Amino acid sequence: MSALAAVAVVESPSSEPAAIAVDGLTTSIRIAGNWYDAVRDVSFTVSRRETLALVGESGCGKSLTALSVMGLLPAGVGRISSGRIVVDGVDMTAATEAGRQAMRGDRIGMIFQEPMTSLNPVLPVGFQIAEALIEHRGMNRRAAQKRALELMELVRIPAAGQRLDAYPHQFSGGMRQRVMIAIALACSPKVLIADEPTTALDVTIQAQVLALLADLQAREGLAVLLITHNLGVVASVADRVMVMYGGDVVESGPVKAFFRRPTHPYSEALLAAMPRVDRPSEALAPIPGQVPTLPDMPSGCRYQSRCPLRIEKCAERPPLNPLPGAPEHRVRCWVRAP
Ligand SMILES: Nc1ncnc2c1ncn2[C@@H]1O[C@H](COP(=O)(O)OP(=O)(O)O)[C@@H](O)[C@H]1O
Ligand SMILES: [Mg+2]
Repeated sequence: MSALAAVAVVESPSSEPAAIAVDGLTTSIRIAGNWYDAVRDVSFTVSRRETLALVGESGCGKSLTALSVMGLLPAGVGRISSGRIVVDGVDMTAATEAGRQAMRGDRIGMIFQEPMTSLNPVLPVGFQIAEALIEHRGMNRRAAQKRALELMELVRIPAAGQRLDAYPHQFSGGMRQRVMIAIALACSPKVLIADEPTTALDVTIQAQVLALLADLQAREGLAVLLITHNLGVVASVADRVMVMYGGDVVESGPVKAFFRRPTHPYSEALLAAMPRVDRPSEALAPIPGQVPTLPDMPSGCRYQSRCPLRIEKCAERPPLNPLPGAPEHRVRCWVRAP
């Protein structure tokens, strides 16, 4: 709490300010001594009870965006070059490292793809859930263990009472992910950042974990930033979507508008590559080529090297333009949204 007190609190004129507000974020990565922009001028907000999905292939800057928000960029390799990030009224970019650390696990819950790497293999799961409460809430061990049991029940781990003292390897992948969710929610955060939380799980378990997250979100009024490369997940749980390519936001808007009229050629390609029940699987069209590495990124539109609609103008970086008649639906493309 003392560390938090040192952090500037941002006043907002509206009654309910966005839980996450990112404005003009540029995050750079150092490769062989040179800095490259891996996230370029990204802006978004997430309100309470809202889910914003960040989608794109591997290497598009989704995780670096999330790590920037949490203040967890790899030291010496990653840095925020410009922009401002405000989480639950606290300016993360102006905060000290101690201030950011106090935010993480307290007001910001985090869930990552592989729970096995985030959980400590030699400590019982109940003990690990209790740790968050002892560290951030100053609870004693006994009260924290009691709350840990409630949290395990909240995330619907069967026979929670008997499993408090079990070790992570005694849990299945889906159950381990539930433990991670329990840890993320231990301190009743306002914001949840989930980076590919169900990617390592099989389809049925994935659906259960997503349903659980949706339920907890409704109950706790969480603002959720959900990272996924799966457009099916976006369609089922998100309110708004932001498609990233090569560190740029190439399309953003309400989920319904996006699926009704996906407009950026990259969004179209992602959708064509997505398996669907109403289409034979032979019709799947994988996107040719791959996301360039940062040193090889073309200037101007970063998708131009793979884009079937490329024109000369694409050598210049297109702006993120609203579509006519749909001001919330924005597209960064000279051909589709000139
Ligand atoms: N620690 C790092 N060192 C070097 N390059 C990195 C590092 N982290 C990310 N990158 C590069 O930054 C780009 C964006 O990465 P990332 O945000 O992890 O993508 P995503 O989460 O969308 O798969 C990629 O080109 C990736 O190779
Ligand atoms: Mg990632």
